[in-house]
Amino acid sequence: MLITSRPRRNRKSENIRNLISEYSVSCNDLIMPLFVIDGENKKVAIDSMPGQHRYSIDKLCQKATELYSMGIHTVALFPVIPESLKTKDAKEAYNPNGLNQLALKELKKSCPDLTIMTDVALDPYSSDGHDGIVDSKTGEILNDATVEILQLMSLEQAKAGSDILGPSDMMDGRVGAIRSALDKANFENKSIMAYTAKYASSFYGPFRDALDSEPKNGDKKSYQMDFRSSSEALRELELDTMEGADIVMVKPGLPYLDIIQLFKQHSNLPVAAYNVSGEYAMIKAAAQNGWLDGEMAMVESLHSFKRAGADIILTYFAEEMAMLLQKS
Ligand code: PBG
Repeated sequence: MLITSRPRRNRKSENIRNLISEYSVSCNDLIMPLFVIDGENKKVAIDSMPGQHRYSIDKLCQKATELYSMGIHTVALFPVIPESLKTKDAKEAYNPNGLNQLALKELKKSCPDLTIMTDVALDPYSSDGHDGIVDSKTGEILNDATVEILQLMSLEQAKAGSDILGPSDMMDGRVGAIRSALDKANFENKSIMAYTAKYASSFYGPFRDALDSEPKNGDKKSYQMDFRSSSEALRELELDTMEGADIVMVKPGLPYLDIIQLFKQHSNLPVAAYNVSGEYAMIKAAAQNGWLDGEMAMVESLHSFKRAGADIILTYFAEEMAMLLQKS
């Protein structure tokens, strides 16, 4: 057959495939989310996220130190708050001696070079299980009242040693409000990674198991975005950029690669993708059943984030990927 262009020539050997490959994933791109619980010497498995655990502060510090030595230099911290401390006003969120703040201080002591990102949203602390304050009469999630608490929360996290504040709540105006609260308190060097396009998603299921933070009533659709739209993501991008975000995030990840690409095309800010709990659980569950090769599915999906334009990937696979990279 006379075929002038034979694309298969560029696929004929591993060496040639390596030569022409355009994207790679390195430990520098990865952020590992970690869950912290009360107590000592505890490492409790999360059933819906095989391989992931909730750690007491001592164990958390060990884990973070291990991750650091493997090349994972940034972690995202999520506290599991006991039911007895959850209230309607979520005031535990800005307790200077609360679990999240204590964990931050200890992490900084035991692993000073580690970069720590913290979550700014009320759901772990709210007896309603919502990211914002719920009006008890109407059930409405109150925007401005919530933003005031997010400011207090950010200040406590900054004081305790957070390097990157991660507002994941989707209230309007929160990035600007947090930026100005931080700046007024001389925390102008604290970064903000905004959860800019955060969609109301069923892929957060296993995370809500891990935190026991499922909303008690209703859903999060009046603040998280509707998956039937993408132009709204650009509107949020514009706002978070104006309000001073340093990094913009898309969440979930795999079902939203189009939004990641859109952000990369429309923004000069670094773009992060959150490969969320449900995406992790799907691969783990299928692998456990022998339905796919879990390791290869992990590598392939992490590369798809880079191809879509993500600079940073938050992923529960960070440790496993680091181990694989060490081997190769
Ligand atoms: C809460 C928060 C959620 C996640 C990160 N921060 C869940 C939610 O919005 O209900 C999800 C992360 C994951 O699923 O891995 N503000």
